[in-house]
Amino acid sequence: MTLATRKFDTLILGSGGAGLRASLQLADAEARVAVVSKVFPTRSHTIAAQGGVNAALANVTADNWHWHMYDTVKGSDYLGDQDAIEYMCRAASHLVYELEHYGVPFSRLDNGKIYQRPFGGQSQQFGEGGQATRTCAAADRTGHAILHGLYQQNIRAKTNFFDEYFAIDLISDKDGNVLGALVMEIATGEPLLIEAKTTLIATGGCGQVFRTSTNASINTGDGMAMALRAGVPLQDMEFFQFHPTGIAGKGLLITEGARGEGGYLINKDGERFMERYAPNAKDLASRDVVSRAIATEVREGRGCGPNADHVMLRLDHLGAEIVGKRLPGISETCRTFLNLDPADTPIPVFPTAHYVMGGIPTNRFGEVVVQHGNNSEELVNGLYAIGEAACVSVHGANRLGGNSLLDILVFGRAAANRVTKFLKGHRYHKPLCQDSVDKAMQRLQRWDNKGDGESVESLRSELKLVMEQHCGVFRNEEVMQDGIQKLKAIRDRLPGVQLKDDSKVFNYARIEALELENLVDISMSIMMSAGARKESRGAHSRMDYPNRDDENWMEHSLYYLDGDRHSTKPVRTKPLTVETFPPKERVY
Ligand code: FUM
Repeated sequence: MTLATRKFDTLILGSGGAGLRASLQLADAEARVAVVSKVFPTRSHTIAAQGGVNAALANVTADNWHWHMYDTVKGSDYLGDQDAIEYMCRAASHLVYELEHYGVPFSRLDNGKIYQRPFGGQSQQFGEGGQATRTCAAADRTGHAILHGLYQQNIRAKTNFFDEYFAIDLISDKDGNVLGALVMEIATGEPLLIEAKTTLIATGGCGQVFRTSTNASINTGDGMAMALRAGVPLQDMEFFQFHPTGIAGKGLLITEGARGEGGYLINKDGERFMERYAPNAKDLASRDVVSRAIATEVREGRGCGPNADHVMLRLDHLGAEIVGKRLPGISETCRTFLNLDPADTPIPVFPTAHYVMGGIPTNRFGEVVVQHGNNSEELVNGLYAIGEAACVSVHGANRLGGNSLLDILVFGRAAANRVTKFLKGHRYHKPLCQDSVDKAMQRLQRWDNKGDGESVESLRSELKLVMEQHCGVFRNEEVMQDGIQKLKAIRDRLPGVQLKDDSKVFNYARIEALELENLVDISMSIMMSAGARKESRGAHSRMDYPNRDDENWMEHSLYYLDGDRHSTKPVRTKPLTVETFPPKERVY
């Protein structure tokens, strides 16, 4: 059978903010760019980002990039790489103004400048000057505004879009140079080989490994799993962020911007309990701190509701005008899913899986790197990763709210610039290795036949439950080891899973089967990495190792699919131009 083939300079997998910022930069530099997305681009998960994007514009309080850098390093619990963090915080203001010029409709202050709100973990004067106000917002629909702005700019720049195509696997040559991907058109079920001199993975996160999550159903870690199958490890996967304020039992996001606007959390006694856990920052402490506080309140019997299983977020004191103007999106969510108006009734909330700090290891240019020995890294030629799929690492063990929209802009652009440079020295397509094409085809054909085996749906539900019960906000050895055994059993059952429908046209069951394979590998990377790290740091909170252990664990972890192997690599503590922020006790 001849395989339909297209050739481009660059293939971008994923059309969220990272992919679209990169494609725009490349298309404007006159590269031939293909963007492949399993959904229509403006349905990518960036659309769901609510509260805003961080940049030290100083429109409301005094601010500068260096304070932003300090907060990010501290927020990361000192696991973030400080060269990349400096690079990101320095670039932030320019990239936000650039969005403004692209037509992104930011909310405005009375003086016409971009509206900024306080977010968790932000400070002035390196933690000594009180709360900073750094998050640039378009009401509580900032991701929506940014994604549409970037998509429109890409249409202007004539980016080639492959909408509703699912990526199966990376393709390489015999030396391991990545040369594109095999994808499948969802409408027809037919494969398409896209050959490219460079391939960027921008497929976003993997929150669908958990039962309750803020993540869209498309967030199944497809790009990360592709990297794993290509022999690239995943870095720091044990650090999964639980957003403090998901709607209890449902997981839908209630933005941190609600607390930024003055909302606060109460327990069943009406106590504003964050004052006990974070006396200075209170409800605007870092996310890991607030999530643990909520989980502790519930565990110790101070939860609300008939099952005492959540706390309440109060916004009713802010007034209908502020709630309506600054938080229209979450107001609508509350009306639709809870039948309540947050301007007069508190919202039931509980931590929910939100964001993976880990991902495909890259340097600050978006180039995928693999470790050789303790101090040397090697590039995977032709392969780049950006956004939530990547681990640069600017978020370390805990990401600050508002830094993910920034990350996608900064590293989307940086990777694109690097690709442009690469393309100048690599003008021709290289021959593919037929083996890698055959392997990708086999992955797709595995789901060609129907049968009476176990269903995708039942295995997926079980997987999510295992992740929720064995790798949540608080962890310990016994629970995780038990979880690892259960995940291994699920992985062993995967070959027995079969579809009931073998049609090709718009067969979403086939897509879900391919996604399930990805979810299984990603879950394993999270649980194995969590089991290996014997300390508590950022979002990884172990009851059996309650303290941070800088002596033994100030290291990034690496998980390899081959043999479920674990290894580590050093944290880059040296910034580009300023002094290192050395680890210290992290209090808010
Ligand atoms: O709470 C929020 O609006 C989420 C922001 C983020 O994850 O950066």
